[in-house]
Amino acid sequence: MKTLEEVKIQARANMSICKMCKTCNGEVCRGWTPGPGGKGTGSTFVRNVAKLKEVTLNMRLIREDQEVDSRFDFFGQVISAPIMAAPIANVKINYGSSVDELTYLNGLTDGCLSQGLPVFLGDGANREAFEMPLKIHQNLNKQTIMTIKPWTMDILMPKLEEVKACSPLAVAMDIDAAGLILLKKQGVPVSFKTVEELKAIKAYLGVPFILKGILTLEDAQAALDAGVDAIVVSNHGGRVLDDCVSTIEVLEKITTFVKGRCKVFVDGGFRSGSDVFKALALGADGVLIGRPFSHASIGGQSEGVALYADKLIQELKECMRMTSCITLKDIKRSSVNVHF
Ligand SMILES: Cc1cc2nc3c(=O)[nH]c(=O)nc-3n(C[C@H](O)[C@H](O)[C@H](O)COP(=O)(O)O)c2cc1C
Repeated sequence: MKTLEEVKIQARANMSICKMCKTCNGEVCRGWTPGPGGKGTGSTFVRNVAKLKEVTLNMRLIREDQEVDSRFDFFGQVISAPIMAAPIANVKINYGSSVDELTYLNGLTDGCLSQGLPVFLGDGANREAFEMPLKIHQNLNKQTIMTIKPWTMDILMPKLEEVKACSPLAVAMDIDAAGLILLKKQGVPVSFKTVEELKAIKAYLGVPFILKGILTLEDAQAALDAGVDAIVVSNHGGRVLDDCVSTIEVLEKITTFVKGRCKVFVDGGFRSGSDVFKALALGADGVLIGRPFSHASIGGQSEGVALYADKLIQELKECMRMTSCITLKDIKRSSVNVHF
């Protein structure tokens, strides 16, 4: 059995671009896109991580000590905790990974599922990048979430037919991918989507539809108008717009506005169970974590991912215990302080 430290050392050895910093905070890799970093000056990625540290937890101990329960209903599936692996594709181009894409994807998927956490798989510019996750969805049948790029509708609809045939648990779209430098360089046709187009996509799919890349109340309202089942408050890990607001800064405003009309997930800079707890206290239903899960798979495949997933779940449970939150419902706004 490996340790997480050994997995990290191996990940560093298996990557020629990503430096696998002690804290994955976007400082060293500022502007490395393609690469693991944030776009332009890299300030959005850095801000995502930094602003999370401006939320603190309130300890509460005087009560009967009880076992905490972090289980969550994710579209009909009971999962160990409201934590998910975010979609990350193209590990060769972005990380300089010597572990091939399929081995990485299988490691990510098997590791997460073994710990009872859902996994989002990404999409890419070429046919192979689309087909690899599809095969995984097909083999696993209703256990994984396919994240499709916002291709122009003529390209998107035939792809959705293939996605549907592979019976994923849900389908997500990273609508913010229209700002990705790699796709622009490859000249592939991604575009923004109108409410009408989103409605058509949702109607066609017949499984939960998750819109990833929401940062404003206007877009949250549009997503609700389109009838999506969930939104992900996300700036794509800082990879699509420089000098952008961090996700934790806008989270509470958006969850208050949405008021349970769809699920609200969030990502960007979350690294630990206590980070996850902060988002839940600000009204999120769940948290996606990107780069650290991909490092864990590149460094230790399913074993590395399972170790990281277990660490996150245990950290979240410990935060719940020390703040007197026995179930997820007990995690309230009063469980945290926001210093921004
Ligand atoms: C190298 C890399 C590749 C990514 N590929 C995708 C993708 O294919 N689809 C997608 O929706 N998001 C993609 N993302 C964004 C992540 O899903 C997620 O929003 C982001 O990484 C969250 O921030 P974190 O890495 O700080 O946790 C990618 C991010 C990185 C760093």
